[in-house]
Amino acid sequence: MRASVLNVAAAAMALTGLCEAADVEAWKSRSIYQVMIDRFARTDGSTTAECEAYLFCNGSWTGLINKLDYIQDMGFTAVQISPVVKNTEDDTSVGEPYHGYWTEDIYEVNHHFGTADDLKNLAAELHKRDMFLMVDVVVNNFAQGFDNKIPPKVDYSKFVPFNNEDYFHPYCNVTEWENATNYQDCWLYPYGVALADLDTESPKVVNVFNKWIKELVSNYSIDGLRIDAAKHVNDAFLPSFVNASGVFAFGEVLTGVTEDMCRYQTMNLLPGMPNYLDYYPLNAAFNGGSLIDVENMRKEARTGCTDPLALGSFIENHDMPRFAAVNPDMALAKNAMTYVLLNDGIPTVYQGQEQHFSGNSTPFNREPLWQSGYNTSAELYVLAQKLNRARNNAIKLSDLYATTPSDTLWADVNHLCTKKGPWGSQIVFCVNNKASNGDAYSVSIGGFQPSDSVVELVSCTTATADATGNITMYMGAGEPKVYITASAMQGADLCPQTTVDGPKTVTKSGAASVMGAAGGVLMTVVVGVATVLLV
Ligand SMILES: *[C@@H]1O[C@H](CO)[C@@H](O)[C@H](O)[C@H]1NC(C)=O
Ligand SMILES: *[C@@H]1O[C@H](CO)[C@@H](O)[C@H](O)[C@H]1NC(C)=O
Ligand SMILES: *[C@@H]1O[C@H](CO)[C@@H](O)[C@H](O)[C@H]1NC(C)=O
Ligand SMILES: *[C@@H]1O[C@H](CO)[C@@H](O)[C@H](O)[C@H]1NC(C)=O
Ligand SMILES: *[C@@H]1O[C@H](CO)[C@@H](O)[C@H](O)[C@H]1NC(C)=O
Ligand SMILES: *[C@@H]1O[C@H](CO)[C@@H](O)[C@H](O)[C@H]1NC(C)=O
Ligand SMILES: *[C@@H]1O[C@H](CO)[C@@H](O)[C@H](O)[C@H]1NC(C)=O
Repeated sequence: MRASVLNVAAAAMALTGLCEAADVEAWKSRSIYQVMIDRFARTDGSTTAECEAYLFCNGSWTGLINKLDYIQDMGFTAVQISPVVKNTEDDTSVGEPYHGYWTEDIYEVNHHFGTADDLKNLAAELHKRDMFLMVDVVVNNFAQGFDNKIPPKVDYSKFVPFNNEDYFHPYCNVTEWENATNYQDCWLYPYGVALADLDTESPKVVNVFNKWIKELVSNYSIDGLRIDAAKHVNDAFLPSFVNASGVFAFGEVLTGVTEDMCRYQTMNLLPGMPNYLDYYPLNAAFNGGSLIDVENMRKEARTGCTDPLALGSFIENHDMPRFAAVNPDMALAKNAMTYVLLNDGIPTVYQGQEQHFSGNSTPFNREPLWQSGYNTSAELYVLAQKLNRARNNAIKLSDLYATTPSDTLWADVNHLCTKKGPWGSQIVFCVNNKASNGDAYSVSIGGFQPSDSVVELVSCTTATADATGNITMYMGAGEPKVYITASAMQGADLCPQTTVDGPKTVTKSGAASVMGAAGGVLMTVVVGVATVLLV
């Protein structure tokens, strides 16, 4: 009797578990904040600790737990963390493995970041907040310091559990980036550290990894994976590994070519990938290029990939120079943030993007976040918070929001405007690449119903749709525009106060200053140059 009650309870729990399973559909309505553990928060909470770019700066899982409010208050509903397993302690000529990518033992957690219990606490704290945990895993290689003499001499006995050379591909350097056999079987980057390339074709390696990932996910209550260097592992390894994990995975496939990216979905190798397809045209468009190229890539991905909504939308990560390293303009950074958070797919914001960090190539793009003082008034923090809230709210209003592909309303060299979500929950956004000295002008844009009252979230201004459902966008200073209906605002904590939108003023000197004209009453700046009004 008792046993059967328990069985019913267990069955019910299993069902609940299924409903809550972090599968691809569940992830589509999430928004991810990417953390590099060593560089996010220290256990001592220091905001002044020095940090040497190539060395450990001593961030920890407990440090992250203590700063989850900073992430959750920005509206994120998932956290992606850097790898968690023990790394080599070798002294290398390219620094210490503060990033976590230099695996030595997959059965031990990385004590630099905390204990196994700390990691379990992190998952528990996230789940208490209804947030997901994504963990980065490395399956392509193990690592060891070496003396830069080629071929690398590796002491395989140090590796757990792959403790002899039979588990690895024989050394060759990746040289042919178009030849899959070469970039999958040879070793990546033999400088200062030998990245011993696992023989992921071998059934022994496959079985160990599949058993391991199932345990790791279960032991630490992980909701999703990022698979590092997925492109450098043989194809057949990936689907069985993802299936064994039982959770959603992004696989890192570094390519801007639609066929090379989308084949991972069409061949059922991976459920999702960080969206490197958008990454390149997006960066180009914000740096003198055209937003039409972004629109064209969106069209390509939509027909080429089987599930474009499972791609991870991003503009920064730990491998690429910061957006602000290339262009420090704040208006452009705001447009990039807007595109990432409101575009189709799963938004992924890398720590520090919200603080407008400007570090260049690795490791300088891995600045410790504590040096920002976790400033929740920073302009991009406030914007990300608003946009995440708007997206979360749209998802609450319609469970079809995240899974409905957006419609393009307008694309030209300088603008990309889309509408996403069913009526009532829709968000209309326009990004532009005019930058902070952008001119003032107005544009009519659709996406609503006749006479709808709408709110523009970036400036917290209101407008009314005309008889065709169009609204007038008053552009200026390169600011992005984000509209929702006034009725969707109810209880969403988005704009506590609003004013009526109207034309902007801009000085002829080219240094535009937007005056946030309220109620159609135009304020002008007298700065010794003629002030013109462009509508
Ligand atoms: C990090 O901790 C190690 C000891 O584990 C210490 O030697 C090192 O100085 C610390 N680094 C920083 C930046 O605090
Ligand atoms: C490895 O190949 C790359 C080209 O992919 C080349 O730049 C590098 O010098 C080679 N390194 C060694 C150690 O052979
Ligand atoms: C591709 O790379 C493999 C491994 O390095 C090599 O054996 C093979 O000849 C290459 N194929 C072509 C077509 O170059
Ligand atoms: C998971 O936990 C079990 C029980 O403590 C342990 O035997 C196993 O090694 C752990 N596996 C991983 C990958 O952490
Ligand atoms: C996927 O995993 C399930 C359960 O672990 C297993 O029964 C099934 O055979 C696996 N399928 C594939 C294609 O590997
Ligand atoms: C936080 O950011 C705001 C907006 O950029 C700035 O005005 C303020 O000085 C910053 N606070 C600190 C402590 O740096
Ligand atoms: C309404 O907006 C669309 C773009 O969304 C534009 O093509 C159309 O010309 C606008 N209609 C009017 C009457 O301005």
